[in-house]
Amino acid sequence: MRRLRGSGLLRDMVRETELTPAHLVQPLFVELGTDSRTPIEAMPGVERLSISHAVEEADTIQELGIPAVLLFGVPAEKDEQGSGAHDDEGVVQLAVRAIKEAHPELLVITDVCLCAYTSHGHCGVVRPDGAIDNDVTLELLAQTAISHARAGADAVAPSDMMDGRVGALRGQLDAEGMKETPIVAYSAKFASAFYGPFREAADSTPAFGDRRTYQMDPANSDEAVREALLDAEEGADILMVKPALPYLDVIQRIKEATGMPLAAYNVSGEYAMVKAAAAAGQIDERAAVLEALTAIRRAGADIVITYHAKDAARWLR
Ligand code: PBG
Repeated sequence: MRRLRGSGLLRDMVRETELTPAHLVQPLFVELGTDSRTPIEAMPGVERLSISHAVEEADTIQELGIPAVLLFGVPAEKDEQGSGAHDDEGVVQLAVRAIKEAHPELLVITDVCLCAYTSHGHCGVVRPDGAIDNDVTLELLAQTAISHARAGADAVAPSDMMDGRVGALRGQLDAEGMKETPIVAYSAKFASAFYGPFREAADSTPAFGDRRTYQMDPANSDEAVREALLDAEEGADILMVKPALPYLDVIQRIKEATGMPLAAYNVSGEYAMVKAAAAAGQIDERAAVLEALTAIRRAGADIVITYHAKDAARWLR
């Protein structure tokens, strides 16, 4: 086996998995305000950006050959129903318009969820008995997706994990004349400990309880395949597994079972671990990041959503 490992040229020639900036998506956190860049302590190198700075950032991202951003909004106010999520003048809607105006060639995908907009921090509407009301939530999510699509989003990505949300979004987008807006479904989103730093970034930690009545049990992969097949049936265009590195087997199974375009989300905790180890001088950041992203591609992800996207794109050039 060592004959083909003998030189860089030979290794390049027989490499099975390709990683280029074209496979990457850079998440962005957008906040209201005129001229702010707020560092996120748990995610060194990641900031909450006011809209003008998000547009600047989009500039850099596009220059690096990264085709898409995934937008998360940090609203000024929250309420029980998360009504800021579907406000046509909300933070994400304003950011989509500004970024698309400056960079029509950059794809803008929006995260569709209520958790950053609800006062209680849950991804859906809370009933008086404390449970999350699935079907009432679907209506609000659909309104949110429509509002994002109207603002010019190139694709919407529901991350709430309510049952039937892909079908609800598809039906209502179609009814509103937005038949061409693709849905990137967070199909297998696990109730993971690796979202901690994100919740600081998006200010979306649940005020009580946890997300285990809607996000998946990390122990299950048959169920992940069922989730993916249901989303496909309901009209998803791209499926997603999240987190990425602890779930490479799930990525592989879903790719094999569906043959559909598949994204994997290398989440905030995965990012924070690499950053912490690199800062402590324990690993070589560049080598570790490129290895991890290649592994996610090798498992079967077409698209990798990662906070390392800009750095990786620079290193890959
Ligand atoms: C919102 C959402 C979360 C993430 C993406 N969309 C957090 C959560 O479910 O609590 C996590 C992303 C990350 O950790 O990088 N539902």
